[in-house]
Amino acid sequence: QIKNLEEQFEARIVRDDKIEPKDWMPEKYRQTHIRQISQHAHSEIVGMLPEGNWITRAPSLRRKVALLAKVQDEGGHGLYLYSAAETLGISRDEMFEQLHSGKAKYSSIFNYPALTWADMGAIGWLVDGAAIINQVALCGTSYGPYARAMVRICKEESFHQRQGYEIMLKLSEGTQEQKDMAQDALNRFWWPSLMMFGPKDDESPHTAQSMKWKLKRKTNDDLRQQFVDQTVPQAELIGLTIPDPDLKWNEDKKGYDFGPIDWDEFWQVVKGHGPCNKERMKARVNAWEEGAWVRDAAMAYAEKQQERKEK
Ligand code: 3HC
Repeated sequence: QIKNLEEQFEARIVRDDKIEPKDWMPEKYRQTHIRQISQHAHSEIVGMLPEGNWITRAPSLRRKVALLAKVQDEGGHGLYLYSAAETLGISRDEMFEQLHSGKAKYSSIFNYPALTWADMGAIGWLVDGAAIINQVALCGTSYGPYARAMVRICKEESFHQRQGYEIMLKLSEGTQEQKDMAQDALNRFWWPSLMMFGPKDDESPHTAQSMKWKLKRKTNDDLRQQFVDQTVPQAELIGLTIPDPDLKWNEDKKGYDFGPIDWDEFWQVVKGHGPCNKERMKARVNAWEEGAWVRDAAMAYAEKQQERKEK
């Protein structure tokens, strides 16, 4: 019986059916999606912290408004994705407990500090640029709620990337000190942005299966290569130098060859030993604990509303 169900499921994946919450699915498919979608949601929420730190210190009202809108968007992306994960049978509280206890991961990139205003440019340009490449591919993912969340999120991410790149453009047209600040931000965020795409395909425990299930539509290395090829010309356009002496155009593959990624650094950060891991977790746990009264009040209000309706 199960064998038959599995065969039907595989056939649905092959013909690009969208799998919906109430459809039969292999338990491992469910668990893999709960893992990836909840960690994606955690990334959005933790990702609000480095940028939130600069809202009060933005250099102009225009920059403040754009940054405020972006951070607010990230919070909304987190809520879409938590809701998509809940359709697979995990509760919001369980997901937050997994994040706060360190059981669940979030994107490594947010464990790096945002030291100058130029970092707001580098994060929008590079981190959201990388996220867009990853998320455009995920628009074609086989699980319906995840694919639909991605379509909406990608629309908003483009604005995030543009506003970041415009910050870098303005700085690169500024004083030498501003140019240096932009170059310093690129130097610090370039390699961690390449690491966002995950380990190399041949060192990725999940990629092969995720490709079979059409959860992933492109592999980690393919998306990383796409990001490098798209971003190098953007850096050149604004007179910034990519901090990779091995970067070189390869005519045969019509793409850039680039230097080795420091995977020790990657795994150190993923394992919790990055520059800001402790600070990020502390901020999230504090927000959860100090916000308990807001959640209780909202629930009490909703119950009261419900009682009034039923009278
Ligand atoms: N940071 C932290 N952990 C990472 C990671 C990263 N950059 N890349 C990989 N890992 C973890 C994986 O979670 C997995 O650990 P787990 O089994 O405990 O979950 C392990 O390393 C092995 O990596 P794999 O490549 O085999 O794992 P995946 O198949 O899950 O691929 C991924 C990793 C490419 C990140 C994939 O999960 C994915 O595409 N996730 C959705 C995209 C996402 O999370 N993006 C966050 C970017 S930030 C963002 O979107 C906010 C933006 O608005 C700024």
